[in-house]
Amino acid sequence: MVSTLDDTKRMAIGAKLADMVAVQELLINADQKLLPAIDDPEIRDRFQHILDDDQKNLKVLNDVLVNYGVRSEANETTQKMIDEARKLMEGQELSLFEKVTQFELLKHKQAMTGILIHKAAQVVGADIEAAILPLNTVNFENRAHQEQLKGVLEVLGVRQLTGQEAKQGIWSRVQDAMAALTGVVGSASGMNEGEMTIQNVLRMDHQKVNVLFMEILQSDDPNKIQEYFGQLYKDLFAHSKAEEETVYPTVQPFYGDDTQELYDEQAEARQLLDKLKSMNPGSAEFKDEVKKLQAAIMDHVRQEESTMFAAIRNNCSDDQQKQMATEFKAAKEKLQHEMAK
Ligand SMILES: [Fe+2]
Ligand SMILES: [Fe+2]
Repeated sequence: MVSTLDDTKRMAIGAKLADMVAVQELLINADQKLLPAIDDPEIRDRFQHILDDDQKNLKVLNDVLVNYGVRSEANETTQKMIDEARKLMEGQELSLFEKVTQFELLKHKQAMTGILIHKAAQVVGADIEAAILPLNTVNFENRAHQEQLKGVLEVLGVRQLTGQEAKQGIWSRVQDAMAALTGVVGSASGMNEGEMTIQNVLRMDHQKVNVLFMEILQSDDPNKIQEYFGQLYKDLFAHSKAEEETVYPTVQPFYGDDTQELYDEQAEARQLLDKLKSMNPGSAEFKDEVKKLQAAIMDHVRQEESTMFAAIRNNCSDDQQKQMATEFKAAKEKLQHEMAK
């Protein structure tokens, strides 16, 4: 398949996501460097919370990257900026106040990149919006961290300049801003609990595929159709293969013969995908075949989300359900890398 202008846009958004992962790693590193340098227990406590959030959000960002399904490298300029910031945070030339200022700048960059991706996704396609949904939590938390860091900077700055404590009221203002933001965080996504179960991860993939089918069927633009189909092909291929490598073998002992049905349906779906790949995306026959594939996939997904999910709930512990999610994501990521070659 030829690449379209929109493939380029998808790659560019993928590069921004890769940027975010790299900056998130830097933030965690900086958190860890700053913590032992802070004497004030209240400020240390705040940094500890930020560190906990940042570590959790790195996992979320990596999930988003896998779910997004388009692999790109982080920008060279971002990498340079990271190296420089790392040196500054590790060096001796900056005061604590200045290091926290650097940290707040990084948070600002991270929050803005996250919001930019969110806005760009709205323009490029609904499937991308679906894929990056958990990014909303990361964005809101980064915005909340920025508010906290402003408060920290006021306290540290007044101390450094005057040797005295800042007037009361800074923390309460920060708390207000936090409360306003966390209200939104709570409803932004159900993924606040940290790690996702296999059911959550599979459901997100299913939703994205569902959106891609709708985009293909609603569009009359052959370039758009080609772009969406290219993404659908990659997503369905990686998802189904990863299920066959990790989920199906695990559920087979308690889900029995129904598992074989799932294997067979996916083998058929992949044949249909390959058939579609050789067809003209502008033709009416193409859409007819897509509709057939959509009906088959929807049927398959319904079975997974009803009886298979129930069987997993009844036979696997919470930890096992999270472990399955980790294994599925790792398998899918590996397949995406192989396909990108
Ligand atoms: Fe599935
Ligand atoms: Fe499946």
